[in-house]
Amino acid sequence: MLSQIKEALSNLENKKLKEKYMQIIITMFEKGYFPGLENIPVAKSSVSNIDGENGLLTFRGYPIQELANNCSYEDVCFLLLKGDLPIPQEKKELKKQLLASKGIDSKIKETIISMNDNLHPMYMLSSSVLQLQSNDPKCFDLDQYTVNLNRAIQLIAKLPTIMGVYQTQNPEFAQGKTFDSFAQYILYCFNQELAAKPKWVNILDKLLILHGDHTMNNSTFSVRAVGSSKASIYASISSAINSLSGPLHGGANEKVIKMLTEIGAPENVESYIQEQLKAGEKIMGLGHRVYRTYDPRALYLKEEILPQIFAEDSPEVNSKLENLYNTAQKMEEIALNKFADKKIFPNIDFWSGLVLRAMKIEPKYFTTIFALGRIMGWCAHWVENLEVKNKIFRPNQLYDGFNTRHVLRDQLK
Ligand code: COA
Repeated sequence: MLSQIKEALSNLENKKLKEKYMQIIITMFEKGYFPGLENIPVAKSSVSNIDGENGLLTFRGYPIQELANNCSYEDVCFLLLKGDLPIPQEKKELKKQLLASKGIDSKIKETIISMNDNLHPMYMLSSSVLQLQSNDPKCFDLDQYTVNLNRAIQLIAKLPTIMGVYQTQNPEFAQGKTFDSFAQYILYCFNQELAAKPKWVNILDKLLILHGDHTMNNSTFSVRAVGSSKASIYASISSAINSLSGPLHGGANEKVIKMLTEIGAPENVESYIQEQLKAGEKIMGLGHRVYRTYDPRALYLKEEILPQIFAEDSPEVNSKLENLYNTAQKMEEIALNKFADKKIFPNIDFWSGLVLRAMKIEPKYFTTIFALGRIMGWCAHWVENLEVKNKIFRPNQLYDGFNTRHVLRDQLK
């Protein structure tokens, strides 16, 4: 059978595709199902692409490094949603629209402020996104592309405001203030002092761009799965935020800083890794489902952003933060050696926490920043999914339970 399949695939010229199909077929034979849907294409998409062997990530064809070097949040938002980079007038209009749409209803603000402190900010965010539906009764009319795009922009604009209101506990937050860019507004929601410093706005802008999209990851799949039932954008994005909160996904950035703090100093890294591995635990911030080389986003943070932050005369860096950075560098060095044969490398969450810590953002908020970048991609996928008239996601299972059996009434007496 396998040789027949091999023969059938031999006509396929694209070598990579051939290997991919072969892998899928082998898994089907060996396991009968696809754990974690690994390698299974579930949709056609033109939003972003990853070449995991060569460490290449592109948004609509543009390499992530070029976008981070040359573009702003508004540029990338336009690109991801509409498929091409904006001309200056289009960029100006999008910025205006985002900043003009950032307000949220006073009742929702009251709800945000009343949420229990013990609720994780990611769940505060996802439940607040659901609340936004109350001001959009027509959200179930999904047939018009331009209306869907506009709805996405409205939601992107409101996400940082939820964070700003929650953190300041002030419903009047940012009222009467003007902002030069959307990234500046986002930084203002987390640190009003740094939002006045162009260097930090620029750093956050790049960080958000790096998080903009990442093909069919767990949260994007959630957007598409929930959206495919024709649930609202609020339900779809809210479920994506919940998915992102997990430590195997976006929640890893918070866990990495916790881990580095626990390790305490570079000289403790080796023993920490050994203990984790002995206990069968993963090291946070390392590994990736798709990359078999250094995650290009992590590499950009390491090479372009962190050196700016940890430059000798940086007033924002104290000895505690310096120690975390040194500990991370030591961990990277050991991991690159230790895990070379498994092709496990640092991912974006390994380095991003250090950037956010330097911005004096509390670790519990780290993943919300990830969400403020990724919402651009989520929305692009949500719009695309509706456009291609995707079927409702409804995978199958390999049933592994009882054969049919019957309730014995006497047993229940
Ligand atoms: N630390 C130690 N070993 C790791 C590891 C890590 N962070 N990530 C992967 N591995 C090892 C696994 O133990 C496994 O080894 P084995 O083949 O000997 O059993 C192998 O690498 C494959 O790992 P697996 O968990 O099957 O890969 P995956 O594609 O299912 O998982 C992640 C990918 C990202 C979920 C996984 O690497 C992980 O949990 N990383 C830590 C959390 C993290 O940083 N998440 C953010 C992702 S951007």
